[in-house]
Amino acid sequence: MSKGKILVTGGTGFIGSHTTVELQNAGYEVVIIDNLSNSNADVVDGIERITGIRPVFVEGDCTDIDTLHRLFKENPGITGIINFAASKAVGESVQKPILYYRNNLNILLNLLDLMPVYGVKGFVFSSSCTVYGEPDQNPITEAAPTKKATSPYGATKQICEGIIADVVRSGSPIKAILLRYFNPIGAHPTAEIGELPNGVPQNLVPFLTQTAMGIRKELSVFGNDYNTPDGSCIRDFINVVDLAKAHVAALDRMLEDKSDEALEVFNIGTGEGLSVLQLIDAFQRATGVEVPHKIVGRREGDIEQIWADPKRANEVLGWHAETSIEDTMRSAWKWQQRLRERGIM
Ligand code: WQD
Repeated sequence: MSKGKILVTGGTGFIGSHTTVELQNAGYEVVIIDNLSNSNADVVDGIERITGIRPVFVEGDCTDIDTLHRLFKENPGITGIINFAASKAVGESVQKPILYYRNNLNILLNLLDLMPVYGVKGFVFSSSCTVYGEPDQNPITEAAPTKKATSPYGATKQICEGIIADVVRSGSPIKAILLRYFNPIGAHPTAEIGELPNGVPQNLVPFLTQTAMGIRKELSVFGNDYNTPDGSCIRDFINVVDLAKAHVAALDRMLEDKSDEALEVFNIGTGEGLSVLQLIDAFQRATGVEVPHKIVGRREGDIEQIWADPKRANEVLGWHAETSIEDTMRSAWKWQQRLRERGIM
């Protein structure tokens, strides 16, 4: 029996596609809306190959409220929304702030506006550990203060969190959960879906796997003079399938009324910090493939070290990160190899 119908905005993207798979595995029906600005429709085939179920796919833009009205009318009975649709490149956001504020805020406002109209009860928002800025101490809990955003992208995450809080406080008949992701990496173990960056990757793992494949000559490690054991930055790298499962737990919690709180926030990370150099080492150990790399200067705006205290998610959501970093690295490599087989990269 179906657990209900969920709208996944940005559902053909990296995290959205993995979450759609886990929702379907858990017994939810999924309707995806995506404007394909940073993904393509073949992803729906990948999801179907993994789960045996083809989600409903609507190509459209959530900034357009008429498109959303149509979607809700054509797919009655949606009880929850997971909002992945957003512009997400930190560097680009500095160049095009208006695009970032327009997209990320309008998408959110439209969805929140329509939830009561169509009787949608639960809302999961993709937030980011970027809202914490440079932590005063690690691991960081949800109670830590948020700090001034260092990019328009980060600012949109903070503003969106605030908008959701205001809407819930206003008495809107909805529940919301904010998930603050740390650094999502890896791919589905089947390599049917994964991350498909546009152009030269800005994030560490896609650049690393492309270098291992010979597409890039060398990985630049941005700084080895930080105040960390090996001098490189430290992050909490969370496997994307584990991350996807956190969304299912969040929806279950809201839709099954397991909490009296209308708004909750959870860190979604492993609880362990790994340095950039340790991550490269883990990849090489897990795959046996060498990654040519060199140390270069620091990248502007980087946080020195941050990792999650995921205790709340562990205890309240009953969710835990499960996948080892080695398995995650193997999944990322298998995906990169699949892209090569398909002649994509
Ligand atoms: C990780 C570490 C780099 C590339 C940002 C956003 C976050 C999320 C993911 C959304 C850093 C180092 C990187 C490279 C390197 N956004 N690095 N060489 O900056 O932690 O997080 O992206 O979608 O909200 O803030 O992730 O993967 O870019 O960097 O040495 O070629 O790897 O300096 O220390 P980051 P990242």
